[in-house]
Amino acid sequence: MNLVVIGAQWGDEGKGKIVDYLAEDAEIVIRFSGGANAGHTIVHDDITYKLHLVPSGIVYPEKKVVLGTGMVIDIESLFSELDTLEKQGVNWKGRIFISDRAHLVFPSYKKLDIEMEKTRRNPIGTTGRGIGVAYALKSHRDGIRLIDIFDIEVYKTLKKDEKDFIEKYKDKLFPMMIDLADFIAHNKDKKKLFEGAQGSLLDLDLGTYPYVSSGSSSAAGACTGGAIGPKSIDRILGVFKAYNTRVGNGPFPTEFNPEIEGELENKVRETGREYGVTTGRPRRCGFLDLVALKYICDTNSITSLVLTHLDIYDEMEDVKACIAYNLNNKEITAFPSSITALENVKPVFKTFKGWNTKLTDIKKYSDLPAASKEYIEFIENYTGVSVDIISVGYQRSETMIRKDIWTK
Ligand code: IMO
Ligand code: MG
Repeated sequence: MNLVVIGAQWGDEGKGKIVDYLAEDAEIVIRFSGGANAGHTIVHDDITYKLHLVPSGIVYPEKKVVLGTGMVIDIESLFSELDTLEKQGVNWKGRIFISDRAHLVFPSYKKLDIEMEKTRRNPIGTTGRGIGVAYALKSHRDGIRLIDIFDIEVYKTLKKDEKDFIEKYKDKLFPMMIDLADFIAHNKDKKKLFEGAQGSLLDLDLGTYPYVSSGSSSAAGACTGGAIGPKSIDRILGVFKAYNTRVGNGPFPTEFNPEIEGELENKVRETGREYGVTTGRPRRCGFLDLVALKYICDTNSITSLVLTHLDIYDEMEDVKACIAYNLNNKEITAFPSSITALENVKPVFKTFKGWNTKLTDIKKYSDLPAASKEYIEFIENYTGVSVDIISVGYQRSETMIRKDIWTK
């Protein structure tokens, strides 16, 4: 069985926790996109793991994890992440693999990423991890894949600084390298989880271009980046928060207005721990945008929605969600492709009654307060997709399952 998990907003939806939760029943976890720009947090009892490149299944001792073809991998940061995991008691040796077709990120790419940001027509606020440079070189057909550093003919063409950098890691990388297509073919009947990074609104094609990342963070990216055909995917889960956030620049129609909603903004940011795991930047926060969420559900064929951070709204008198945009005095529900239109739309909100109840200890959907169920059911009706998992805290135990995701 093949399950895909993607972010259904602008990243930081809680994918790490959900992949970790579902990974308990998976045999293999394959991360299919992005690089060290991602920041996935997993909490197991009193240990917090912060992952950037390593797939979220790693903390289970028996799972195999793969860094897929669609990723761009900074090997220096990969080994530093693995060192940290080892110090936290995670034994990763022999069960972490890298697609030989994945591209590498060299130190010069990170410097160039920061330089290019200064002269960009539209500064994006990148993470400075060399992501855009690696994907640009890949498209320019001048990138370096893992397999290439073991190909004598290709290796000869590398620059001296690139060879010097690689030499430090070559011996450690060789046993981790696999042909992912062949690996998938040999593990056809295993339970595989394809883990996304970023969010579909940061996808190069579907996202709010140019304020996006450079990878394919949508469900389609699981195919090319995970070496699997679309017809082999059984389920596509879209993770979204009860509100929206975004890091870096770009349009955000439902962003809180600090003059009127400053208090709410602070509350959501502090209780939701809305600070970047990779850069430490405070995240921009706002109300749930259902226009954007429906667009993502439709363009990714999402079969189940996963709602996270619902507990962050526990103490609110009322809760708002955007159900349409007003553009030049016309109400629209299609997500605009024009960045100027998206910057100028005024959200049309629907107000819901708050639930004023602590949700963290609730284990069953039927035990949720009526007001919170009204919020969830409205989201389901609006998007046409059922909310099958609800997360009300960081711990694994703080998760409600309405449908067994692994059963066909
Ligand atoms: P996870 O996997 C949130 C954002 C950056 C910037 C834009 C481009 O933790 O959800 P890049 O360095 O990728 O070229 O930056 O994309 N960004 C993310 N925002 N979560 C992420 O990953 C992100 N990865 C990149 O802030 O606006
Ligand atoms: Mg993150």
